[in-house]
Parts: sequence; structure tokens; C-alpha cells
Amino acid sequence: MSESTHPVITYTGINQEVICEDPDATLLEVSISNQIPHLHECGGNGQCTTCRVRVIDGHSNLSPRTMKEHETARLRKWDPSIRLACQCYPKGDVSIQRLVWTSSEVNKLQLEMLPDGDAEERAIAILFCDIRNFTKMAVSNNAFDVAHILNRFYTVIGDPILFNNGVIYQYVGDEIIGLFGVSGGLKEKNCTDAVRAALGMYYAIERLNHLELVDFDIRIQMGIGINFGKAFIGHLGHPKHKQFAVIGDPVNTASRIQNYNKVAGTHLLVSESIFKAVPEGTFDIGQEFQPQLAGHEHETKIYEIKGFKNPDIKLALQSSMDYLLRNEDEFASQFYERVFEKSPETRSLFKKNMKDQGRLLTHMLGGIIYSMSRPENLDLGLKFLGESHSKYGVTQAHYPIVMESLMETIEDQLGEFSSPELLNAWRETLTMVTDQMRHYSH
Ligand code: HEM
Ligand code: FES
Repeated sequence: MSESTHPVITYTGINQEVICEDPDATLLEVSISNQIPHLHECGGNGQCTTCRVRVIDGHSNLSPRTMKEHETARLRKWDPSIRLACQCYPKGDVSIQRLVWTSSEVNKLQLEMLPDGDAEERAIAILFCDIRNFTKMAVSNNAFDVAHILNRFYTVIGDPILFNNGVIYQYVGDEIIGLFGVSGGLKEKNCTDAVRAALGMYYAIERLNHLELVDFDIRIQMGIGINFGKAFIGHLGHPKHKQFAVIGDPVNTASRIQNYNKVAGTHLLVSESIFKAVPEGTFDIGQEFQPQLAGHEHETKIYEIKGFKNPDIKLALQSSMDYLLRNEDEFASQFYERVFEKSPETRSLFKKNMKDQGRLLTHMLGGIIYSMSRPENLDLGLKFLGESHSKYGVTQAHYPIVMESLMETIEDQLGEFSSPELLNAWRETLTMVTDQMRHYSH
């Protein structure tokens, strides 16, 4: 304990100590009030588990588990050293390590809910994406260039899966497999999420070809197949080396549908089960095919998907994210310059240095995009953010100023990619976010 008998919290990862002066503050609130980044997707409601920490020292100085935390720990088979920061109060010195660092890691938490031994049957959407010309590029370019492009490639191809609450199952050679609905959820949502991810991957590759691969004299091409059905998922393998695995006929069918792109000359094909899972008119359908896929006795109906019929706000936001935040510091400094010009008194509200504050904001924009695929957490998160902004001294009048400054910065940064549809998507989303926050601010 510190001299003043307030508990001291030590964050082992960043080697930082903070004094907890408010006896009614949860561990999560201590992090936030000391500007230590700490994910809290559900806004401290014991629902998302993103605030989890490992207690390295001083375990008995934390209040016991709440009922909510107890149940979470039981379902996920946590050992006693793992605690939910939003559910515990420090009563003495503790040393902790935050366990979830980025929004993109949040999806992996779904895998904890899978059975350990026997696989369980679950209805999921399975996406197979095959990349062509990729190996050719690796052979004909120098190692440095290839490593750079590989990293860019895996990011832009994996992000759309993660943005849509999917789990990346495997990168095998030139193939990536995404699963949607591993921890349950509505069939319609899981299938729409999978198709949105596929379209996002397609746009990302087009942009990579257009912007970053022009000098390599190469054009990456891709084919995607998606199927929905009951597959067996679980952690399987040697008792000492169990791996997350998914098996079953729907998985093989998804792979074969993907393969059919080569015959049909298409990019994105989905099974009838995907087509039927969403209301008619959701997708812009191209050609229809009725092949007899290998291993099947009957013909299978498959559909080419060209996009969504009506503009899809989430897809627009997701597709612009990578480009928008390619220069995070510049985005943040432009934004704050605009805010302080419109409202000079807001400068004094910020305690943290501007660069870190900017990172928080761009992180938060990313966080919003990620958590839009988990609306049950997004609402709670924004409630918490609205309440905490009141404590920072933010008033109702500040919101329109921040909103306009964000919109101007977004338009500026998008440059040649800016379009009325894209700007509308951002305006609509930011209006939703600020309206929610304002509703819960005093
Ligand atoms: C789109 C709406 C907004 C989003 C997404 C947002 C996001 C955030 C985030 C993530 C933090 C980090 C701390 C936390 O998690 O509570 C933060 C802190 C803060 N925000 Fe916002 N914010 C928004 C609007 C505003 C507005 C309208 C103001 C008014 C000027 C403002 C001023 C601040 C201040 C003063 C802090 C604390 C900084 C410090 O302690 O140095 N924010 N914001
Ligand atoms: S469980 Fe703690 S913030 Fe969601």
C-alpha cells in the first residue's frame, strides 16, 4: 500500500504503477482514469470478457468474484488468477497483466466456448477463399518485397473476417478459411456477415492490386465460396496438443463451391443455404449454376453474388478503414486542430498528451467498426463512454463540434476514395455513436 494507504496497481506489461484513490472504482475504472488503454467492449457489464486480466500478485487484495464473473469463469474454465477488471475492486496492492490487447483479438475469445474433447455440432457459415498468382509473386521478387507484401496481404485479407465477427480458421498455402457463428447467433446474421466479409476481401485485394502491387507486375486473383450448415467443431488432437478443428460435409462443400469459381469464371459463389438464410433481395445476384459437385449425388444450386442490393453501411465503413487510418498520427493531429479551432476551451479538457489521445480516438473508431458486428456489446459500450465523457467535463454542445471535425478529417483523408455514399455511411454511424453517448451524458 502507498503511504496514504491507497492501493497501488502495477501493470506488468508496461511497467507502470498507479495509485487507486477512489475506493469505489473498479480495476477497469482505475485503468481508464489513468489513461491506460484497457479494452471494455461491453462498457463494464461483465458480458464481453475483453477487460480480463491475469493477477500476478496480490490476488487476495481484490474483491471476490461477482455472480456474473463466477458464471463466466466457470463456463470458460478460467483458473482463479484470471479476473474481469470491470467486476472487481482493489482493496490493497495488486500487480496485473491485461490479456486482450486489440479489437482483432476479441473474436478469438469465441473459441474458449468450444468443447474440449468431443466436437460439438454447430450451424455455421464457412468461407473458403483461394488466392491465385500469389506463389508466382513470391518466386519472382526479392525476399524483402515479398515479406512486406505478405504482411499487407494477410492483414487486408484477414481483417474483413475479423470485422464481421468471424474467426480465422486456417491459412493453408494459398487458402484462407473463415467461420461465422462459432459461438451461436442468428443464422441470417452469420450468413450476411460471411458474405460481407467476402465482399470486403474482394475490395481489399482489388485495392492492393491497384495501389501496392502495380510495381510488382502482378495481379492477385481470388475465388471465394461460402456455405452454411452443421459442422463439428471443437478442440481435437493429441491430449497435449489440442487444436481447434472443424469437420463435416458442409466444410467440404464450401471448398468445392469455391473451386467452382474456376469453371464458372466468377469470384464469389454461395450455396442455396446461404441464399435462403437471408431475406429475398438482400444480395445482388448474378448467374445461377446447378453443377454436380464432387462427392455429391445430386446437383447443387449455387449463386454468384455481386454485392448487396442496397448500400451496406458496415461494408462501406470497413472497406475505408484501412485506407483512412493508414496515417494515424496525421488523422489525429488534423482532427484535434479542427476541434480546438472551433472550440478553444476544449483544449483544457485533455490531460493526456495529444499523440496518445489521438491513438485512443483512432483506436476507438476501429473499435466501433469491430463492435458493430456485436451490437449487444456496442450499446453498452457507448453508454459507458457517454457517462465517462461527462466526467471528463464534456458537454452536449461539444458533440456537434467533434462530429463535424471528424467528418471533415475523414473527407480529407479519404481523398480520391471519397464518395457521397462513403461519407453518408460515416455520418450515419457517427451520428448513431454520438447520439447514444449524448443520451447517457449528463
Ligand atoms: C465520436 C465520439 C467520441 C468517441 C468515440 C470518443 C472516444 C474516446 C475514448 C475511447 C476515450 C478514452 C477514454 C475512455 O475510454 O473513456 C476518450 C477520452 C476523452 N474524450 Fe472522447 N470521444 C468522443 C467524443 C468526445 C467529445 C465530443 C469530446 C469533447 C471535447 C471528447 C473529449 C474527450 C476527453 C477530454 C477525454 C479524456 C482525455 C484525457 O483524460 O486526457 N470526446 N474519448
Ligand atoms: S466484461 Fe468487463 S468490460 Fe465487458
